[in-house]
Amino acid sequence: MDKVSSIFDLENLARERLPQVIFDYIHGGAEQQITLQRNLDDLRALALRQHDLRDVSNPQLSVTMVGETARIPLAIGPTGLAGLTWANGECEAACAAADFGVPYCLSTMSTSSIEDVAAASPKPFWFQLYLMKERKVNESLIRRAHEAGCSALVLTLDLHVQGKRWADAKNGLSVPPRLTLHNSLDMATHPRWLVSMLKSKRRTFGNLQGEVPHAGDVAALSEWIEQQFDPRFDLDTVKWVRQRWDRKLILKGIMHEDDARQAIDIGADAIIVSNHGGRQLDGAPSSIAVLPAIADAVGARLEVLFDGGIRTGADIIKAIGRGAHACLSGRACLYGLAANGREGVRCALDLFEQELTDCMALTGITSLRTIAPGTVTAQPRL
Ligand code: GLV
Repeated sequence: MDKVSSIFDLENLARERLPQVIFDYIHGGAEQQITLQRNLDDLRALALRQHDLRDVSNPQLSVTMVGETARIPLAIGPTGLAGLTWANGECEAACAAADFGVPYCLSTMSTSSIEDVAAASPKPFWFQLYLMKERKVNESLIRRAHEAGCSALVLTLDLHVQGKRWADAKNGLSVPPRLTLHNSLDMATHPRWLVSMLKSKRRTFGNLQGEVPHAGDVAALSEWIEQQFDPRFDLDTVKWVRQRWDRKLILKGIMHEDDARQAIDIGADAIIVSNHGGRQLDGAPSSIAVLPAIADAVGARLEVLFDGGIRTGADIIKAIGRGAHACLSGRACLYGLAANGREGVRCALDLFEQELTDCMALTGITSLRTIAPGTVTAQPRL
C-alpha cells in the first residue's frame, strides 16, 4: 500500500475510515487503560544490544507454531467483531494470513462464522473459544470447529466477567451498531465504511446465530451473550474442554507462573502470555513484564506464545529474546484490515517481515532460536 511506512500509519488510516464507535472498540482497553499503555510502554522501553561484526545475509525468520510452519514468528490473534471493520473481515484476514503463510485465529465473537471462514480460507485456521455458561453451546462450537478442520483451539481464560471499556459504554456500542442520533451522524460521515458494511454477509455474531434461541433478534442475542460470561470458570472447566478437543490446545490469558504450570499438567500444547490487550484486568502488569518468569517456569514443556503491544518487528524480537517462542498480533492486523481489507492485512504482515529482517541484521541476530542472553535488556543506566 502506498504511503504506509508502519503499523502506526495503518492505525491512522483505520481511525479515518471507521466510525468512532467501531474504532474505539478495537483500539481501546478497560477502564483507565493503564494495562493497555503498559503493554506499549514496556516493550518500547526495552533496549536491543547489537553485535556488528557478524554476517547477517541469511536470516532465518520462519518458525513452527504448534507444529505449523509460520513464515514469520507471528500469528493473527483473535479479535471480536473484525467484520465490522471491513465486509466479511474475518474471511479476508484469514485469506491474507493463509496467502502470506502465518496462522489465523478466528474469535468466537466474530461476525463471519466458523463455516464462512472455512469456506473462504485455503488453509486450516485456529478457533478461539469463549466458554459460555450454557455448556451445550460450547460443545456445539467445539464440534463445529473440529468439523471445519480447525487445527488448534485457543481457549480464553480471562473472561469471568467482561472488562469495562468506558468508551464503548459512552458510545453505546451495540451489535450491529444501533442508529442513535449520535451514531447515525458518526456512520453517515464515514460513507466508505457504510457501503462496505452494506456488502457484508453478516453484521452480527455469526457463530452464535444458529446456537441461541431468538438469535434473529439482535438485541436478544446481545443480551444472551452478556449473561454467558461464566464466573465459575476454573481448572475443571479447562479439563472439560481438553477432553472434548483432540487437536492442539492453546490456553490464552496466562499471566502467572502458577497458571502456566497448571497448563502443563492439563496437557495444553501452548500458552499465550496475554492480558487480553489491556481489555480485561486494568492494573495488570504488561505481558512483556511477566513473560520471562513464565517462560522460565515452563521451560521446554510447552510452547510459550506472547501478545500485548506488538507493533513492530523489533517488538517481536524483544518478546522472543525474553522467552517467547512466537507472538500473536490482534490490533496491528486489525488496523490493516480496517484500512484496506485483505490488502491491508497483507501490508501489516509485510511490514512485520521487513522490520524483523532489518532488526535482525542491525542487532546481529541470524537465528531467532539463538538470541544471546543480554541482547534484549533494560536500557542501561547512564
Ligand atoms: C473480545 O475479546 C474483546 O476483547 O472485545
